[in-house]
Amino acid sequence: MSIRPILIHPDPRLRKHCEPVAALSPELVKLAEDMLETMYDAPGIGLAAPQIGVMKRLLVMDCVKDPEAPPSPMVLFNPEIVWSSAERSSYEEGCLSIPEQYAEVERPAEVKVRWLTLDGGAAEEHFTGLWATCVQHEIDHLDGKLFIDYLKPLRRQMITRKMEKLKRERARA
Ligand code: NI
Repeated sequence: MSIRPILIHPDPRLRKHCEPVAALSPELVKLAEDMLETMYDAPGIGLAAPQIGVMKRLLVMDCVKDPEAPPSPMVLFNPEIVWSSAERSSYEEGCLSIPEQYAEVERPAEVKVRWLTLDGGAAEEHFTGLWATCVQHEIDHLDGKLFIDYLKPLRRQMITRKMEKLKRERARA
């Protein structure tokens, strides 16, 4: 397994619509393992393939917050929201592609998601709480959407300018 560099906003690859995975392959399994390792290393609770520059509909997540609890890694190929609750909830979201910036985002409180598993089977699960927020945030990435898109334009521009500055600093270092 290897840790992949995470793209930082603004980057055109974070704004593209990603293609569904046609069939699973050993390369895709390796990619999913790399993504999990990259996510845990960051550390983060979710990572979508475009964040490491791979334009495929694949995300990984693990929203277990208790450091004593066993990890619960999930790998979702071609995830699709098949139901959203009318009830909404608000979480302070962040993103590995927008480091150290957080903002309240309101989304459906619960969602049902269907996807392909690592062994090619179909799975469906009803997500609640932080898992529901995380899976929606990551699926947005597959459609080129970032959590800052839910904020007022001024706030979004401020965050984008901070990220441009961060990228310039990193490029110099
Ligand atoms: Ni994100």
